[in-house]
Amino acid sequence: MSETVSSPSAGAAWQALAAHAAVIRGRHLRDLFAADESRGEGFAREAAGLYLDFAKQRVSAETLDLLLALARERGVEERRDAMFRGERINVTEGRPALHIALRLPRDRSLVVDGVDVVVEVHEVLDRMARFAAAVRDGSWTGYGGRPIRNVVNIGIGGSDLGPAMAYEALRHYSRRDMVFRFVSNVDGSDFAEATRDLDPAETLFVVASKTFTTLETMTNARTARAWTVGALGDEAAVGRHFVAVSTNLAEVAAFGIDPANAFGFWEWVGGRYSMCSAIGLSTMVAVGPEHFRELLAGFHAVDEHFREAPLRDNLPALMGLLAVWNTTFLGSDSIAVLPYDQYLRRFPAYLQQLAMESNGKSVRLDGERVDYPTGYVIWGEPGTNGQHSFYQLLHQGTRIVPCDLIGFCRSLNPLGGHHDLLFANVLAQAEALAFGKTAEQVRAEGTPEALVAHRVFEGNRPTTVLLADELTPAALGSLVALYEHSVFTQGAVWGIDSFDQWGVELGKQLAQRIAPELSGDVEAGAGHDSSTNALVRRYRARRRR
Ligand code: F6P
Repeated sequence: MSETVSSPSAGAAWQALAAHAAVIRGRHLRDLFAADESRGEGFAREAAGLYLDFAKQRVSAETLDLLLALARERGVEERRDAMFRGERINVTEGRPALHIALRLPRDRSLVVDGVDVVVEVHEVLDRMARFAAAVRDGSWTGYGGRPIRNVVNIGIGGSDLGPAMAYEALRHYSRRDMVFRFVSNVDGSDFAEATRDLDPAETLFVVASKTFTTLETMTNARTARAWTVGALGDEAAVGRHFVAVSTNLAEVAAFGIDPANAFGFWEWVGGRYSMCSAIGLSTMVAVGPEHFRELLAGFHAVDEHFREAPLRDNLPALMGLLAVWNTTFLGSDSIAVLPYDQYLRRFPAYLQQLAMESNGKSVRLDGERVDYPTGYVIWGEPGTNGQHSFYQLLHQGTRIVPCDLIGFCRSLNPLGGHHDLLFANVLAQAEALAFGKTAEQVRAEGTPEALVAHRVFEGNRPTTVLLADELTPAALGSLVALYEHSVFTQGAVWGIDSFDQWGVELGKQLAQRIAPELSGDVEAGAGHDSSTNALVRRYRARRRR
């Protein structure tokens, strides 16, 4: 850890923003809109098919200037350029963070440690495309010679959330005569439910794991192998029913998967940034190589925009700065992502890993503890469903939860008036959250006085409205890249390593220690704290034998 940074909170722009936050707290969005008739257009930007309206964020022109000054003070552009050059910006693991290389076009070049990684990336993409085409056209057959009808991705974290989210998001473009399932949880119910109606002779497992050592994935993969071999009666069936995606090809071979059926990637791809790598194999089989390339092109368009656009017009940089503003300076603990599109129902879960594993850190790059809040909780559900459950708190609760409302101008399933109603709700929610309803307005509706306070909406609750024309593969890629670079911007401002995840290790180690105590293989119920000991004893007394 050689990199040294001074505390970001000591910087002039940081201090100015902290003082400015007190001013903005006293201003209502109603006043900000009243003071500037062109706010709706002035606080909106467009790039790569995405339209970002942040006019309903609690920012003035001065706030924006100060946030841009903060970005310069924190060296966001320098760090961004270092990422794009392939420098080892993941300092605690000594690695580059080069997911942007996964979507560079074939005619580009990016040399890292003397190797043009773009050449390697396209070699793997071409192999994936040949394999995906063979599964799709039936020329890749199962052990008994029948075509593959079911694809089950086994992976967890970044080796699950990206493929699962992308499959749901791009279902419109997927093969409807094939079944795609995703098994992640070590809970046996996940595997059992995912496979209970599948015919092993027509089922392909994609074992996706960067390390190929992850407990959950390897446990599920072993169960899948036993399920397949048990049904097909021959170990040789593994060669037709299992492929692997990993950086650890030695472990893949040790598991018994033919290296010819393995698709590699590289240590410079973080798990949560890996959906464009071979980890996307199940996505490619589902939607086909052409659509997968469109997805990559969408990512790349935002990569280029992030790399080239001035910060003032840079969508991911602005989104990242607004997230810092809302959480670190205005004190919100969480941000809700509310996609008004049913196909994006797994998008908030995907973003949870992206944002929280990246920026849930308390220590700066130089090892010093931060003296300001960093990563926030990100959560959400598709609208309009959330409106009938948790939006009450968003509108009238004591906590301010900034929201990203994501909408599309055209539906992939135009049914009667559904889409206008859906889209009306995007605009209505943003309007209601920003402007609320005053006591005078409530009284003017004839509300009994005893109910007036209950029916007031304070408003002044910030939202960003994010629009694209249609949920195409390219639009999905652009949307994900937008959030990736927003998260990057936040991490750069906070001066943390957004690419490591040491915080997941302790729980894993303890589970490895506790598991044999539960199964009875070792003496149990004494070596922990009194609560854990009692829970171990209770489980052992009641577990199924
Ligand atoms: O435990 C967290 C994590 O390391 C994630 O960062 C990663 O996406 C996930 O586990 C799965 O890891 P792997 O792809 O190596 O199985």
